[in-house]
Amino acid sequence: MWPRAATNTAAHPARMAALSVRPLRRGESASLRAFFSALSPAARRWRFHGAVNELPSAWIERLAHPDPHSEAAVLAEATEGDEARPVGEARYVADGAAPGTRELAVVVADGWQGRGVGTALLHALEQAARRQGVQRLFGDVQRDNLAMLALAGRAGFETSGHPTDPTLVRIAKQLADATAPASGRGR
Ligand SMILES: CC(C)(COP(=O)(O)OP(=O)(O)OC[C@H]1O[C@@H](n2cnc3c(N)ncnc32)[C@H](O)[C@@H]1OP(=O)(O)O)[C@@H](O)C(=O)NCCC(=O)NCCS
Repeated sequence: MWPRAATNTAAHPARMAALSVRPLRRGESASLRAFFSALSPAARRWRFHGAVNELPSAWIERLAHPDPHSEAAVLAEATEGDEARPVGEARYVADGAAPGTRELAVVVADGWQGRGVGTALLHALEQAARRQGVQRLFGDVQRDNLAMLALAGRAGFETSGHPTDPTLVRIAKQLADATAPASGRGR
């Protein structure tokens, strides 16, 4: 399902680091733990819609093992010299209520925000979704999360009110005709 090579590579002008986006490898718990631990409380709050301190190990393990049939996760890595470290992560999970629909989330390390990493991650995630036969991607974003709303808008997502929570905005993008059969299995 995934290409072997990184999906996007660009020189990072400010830090002279190479930035690449690649699929998360199953079981890559250590880099995920390091990445989420280093996020600011604000970034974790935006990502998880609430105050989250250290992510429990079981949660990290769950994130490190996306279901290959219905989920996908991509990691942005910055490489300086021999060292590669994660600077962003995006994923989608199955939406139990709607086969063919997946719910996405994305987060970029604080020091790397506003430099195109989120755009590259969302693009890679959308490519993965198309390969997996996903028909619709959506996400729930806090109403005052202007950076995410700007990112989604530029990527062609439409916004609407959340069906039940007025503090959230729903972003959604139709990738394929909803009547077409999805090749990926939902839950
Ligand atoms: C939202 C987030 C993923 C965006 O990632 P990013 O790497 O900063 O995104 P990019 O640099 O690719 O693009 C961000 C766009 O938002 C704009 N932006 C950034 N901050 C903004 C703000 N406060 N108000 C309006 N626009 C803003 C940028 O200018 C850029 O648009 P441009 O390219 O037209 O200038 C990142 O800010 C983040 O991780 N936030 C915390 C977690 C989160 O909110 N996740 C979303 C939950 S679904």
